[in-house]
Amino acid sequence: MAFQAIWVLVGVFVCSTCVKGSSQPQARVYLTFDELRETKTSEYFSLTHHPLDYRILLMDEDQDRIYVGSKDHILSLNINNISQEPLSVFWPASAIKVEECKMAGKDPTHGCGNFVRVIQAFNRTHLYVCGSGAFSPVCTYLNRGRRSEDQVFMIDSKCESGKGRCSFNPNVNTVSVMINEELFSAMYIDFMGTDAAIFRSLTKRNAVRTDQHNSKWLSEPMFVDAHVIPDGTDPNDAKVYFFFKEKLTDNSRSTKQIHSMIARICPNDTGGLRSLVNKWTTFLKARLVCSVTDEDGPETHFDELEDVFLLETDNPRTTLVYGIFTTSSSVFKGSAVCVYHLSDIQTVFNGPFAHKEGPNHQLISYQGRIPYPRPGTCPGGAFTPNMRTTKEFPDDVVTFIRNHPLMYNSIYPIHRRPLIVRTGTDYKYTKIAVDRVNAADGRYHVLFLGTDRGTVQKVVVLPSNSSASGELILEELEVFKNHAPITTMKISSKKQQLYVSSNEGLSQVSLHRCHIYGTACADCCLARDPYCAWDGHACSRFYPTGKRQQEHRSRMGTMNTFKTLMTMLYPLEW
Ligand SMILES: *[C@@H]1O[C@H](CO)[C@@H](O)[C@H](O)[C@H]1NC(C)=O
Ligand SMILES: *[C@@H]1O[C@H](CO)[C@@H](O)[C@H](O)[C@H]1NC(C)=O
Ligand SMILES: *[C@@H]1O[C@H](CO)[C@@H](O)[C@H](O)[C@H]1NC(C)=O
Ligand SMILES: *[C@@H]1O[C@H](CO)[C@@H](O)[C@H](O)[C@H]1NC(C)=O
Repeated sequence: MAFQAIWVLVGVFVCSTCVKGSSQPQARVYLTFDELRETKTSEYFSLTHHPLDYRILLMDEDQDRIYVGSKDHILSLNINNISQEPLSVFWPASAIKVEECKMAGKDPTHGCGNFVRVIQAFNRTHLYVCGSGAFSPVCTYLNRGRRSEDQVFMIDSKCESGKGRCSFNPNVNTVSVMINEELFSAMYIDFMGTDAAIFRSLTKRNAVRTDQHNSKWLSEPMFVDAHVIPDGTDPNDAKVYFFFKEKLTDNSRSTKQIHSMIARICPNDTGGLRSLVNKWTTFLKARLVCSVTDEDGPETHFDELEDVFLLETDNPRTTLVYGIFTTSSSVFKGSAVCVYHLSDIQTVFNGPFAHKEGPNHQLISYQGRIPYPRPGTCPGGAFTPNMRTTKEFPDDVVTFIRNHPLMYNSIYPIHRRPLIVRTGTDYKYTKIAVDRVNAADGRYHVLFLGTDRGTVQKVVVLPSNSSASGELILEELEVFKNHAPITTMKISSKKQQLYVSSNEGLSQVSLHRCHIYGTACADCCLARDPYCAWDGHACSRFYPTGKRQQEHRSRMGTMNTFKTLMTMLYPLEW
């Protein structure tokens, strides 16, 4: 117990010297691109000197590869060292399509190429890939072999239309998940970019989509991410969650507000029988809030969701959802990290439905009768064991969901406030990944935050009851030389590596570089990096018992040295 208390004291000590009272804290260690290279804990890859938009990443930890989708290319890189020679497939748009695209007045460099936007594992041997195909989306199967030793990476089937699978415009996000060889995509389904949809395709059943041009369902959405998330113990109750923001016209119809949203559907939804034919009959959505209320001032909303990271635990109900938000305010530039309990999200979906009433179309909580099965329930799940498909749903369920897709309550973050806020900074956060670390004094969540200036900040949030800013930027790393904004981030806890992409290229950085904190025991301990501990000789990676023995290091040595240091700093407590 005493041991833990000391850590908190050290935290306060460190914080008061570098963090307190500022929303612009500095990193303890800042490494430029070249300094980072010198630590030998990073690798860099780019195919050419031209920007190729490397934003799609799919990790394959079984085959030790990372797949990259860029303009006209799909790459397979060694997950242990991305600098090594890649396997690659050149997959341009056809010359005719590129010509048509230019004739239609689209941007030749940023529009009229085949920008790969979908890479999903299809089966044991094949990936399913889609690209924007010069405003004429295309998809195909890509053979990556059964094992990485096979060194197979090739398209071995015909291309098919990517309509309903990938946006025409590469600057409009496409997000997707693959479940049992069926593709669920959220994108814009038409050339003009006015028809947004969440679509199930690549299916032996009927294709299903959101109600067309129905702004109650989707209103000029910008899609951010999609995940399959279990709900209870019955696998048939699992749902696909789509994270997005949308533009809403307010009642005066003069201004447009941006709201961040979560929508969800049941993957086995096959649409209604009489109405909502081939449309989702389980589509519900709720607003995701990330805001700060000043004691005497107004609420500052971080309206624009930029990225989502799911930190999964053994128990799905305790999963944490991390979101990066920015402001749409023209007055100041800011970004925030908000964290949500998955159980809180599910509670909102199980709560009251929103209903528009009165001359002002005010949103109120729906008080009428709710049909059975409760709208949004999955067929064949724990609550509808005798309804195998949505076609068996009663008409009133289908009608209800068509008119009431929105939940009345909004989803609020843990403690109703952001975990991290940055205002008045000259950068914004764009992407997030989170790792759970077993440190000498307990478990920590370490946040890796990508910025729009080509850096990654490694942040640890200290347990602190008194202030919301118990956070410490351990490192800020320039992962891109030219400060290109970070577009995608993937983390492998297994490999202890972070993979970061930008328009320019791809970087791989180790989650830790303990030696940079210095050569003395005090430097190491005061750094507060949960990955690191003093091992008697140097600041090095700390492994909890079992693993540490594999590393042939003595944990007791560390603890004793640490205790000695603590005794020096805080004699009374020890
Ligand atoms: C990664 O691969 C590159 C190119 O083969 C090589 O120069 C570099 O030393 C490798 N890095 C490590 C850590 O082995
Ligand atoms: C995977 O799917 C592809 C494309 O349909 C097919 O050609 C291949 O045989 C499948 N592989 C396995 C192992 O089922
Ligand atoms: C969908 O239905 C099939 C057949 O009833 C079932 O095997 C599968 O588990 C269901 N999948 C989901 C995600 O509910
Ligand atoms: C923080 O609050 C929790 C619960 O209220 C308490 O158990 C814990 O001891 C507090 N920690 C500190 C450092 O005050």
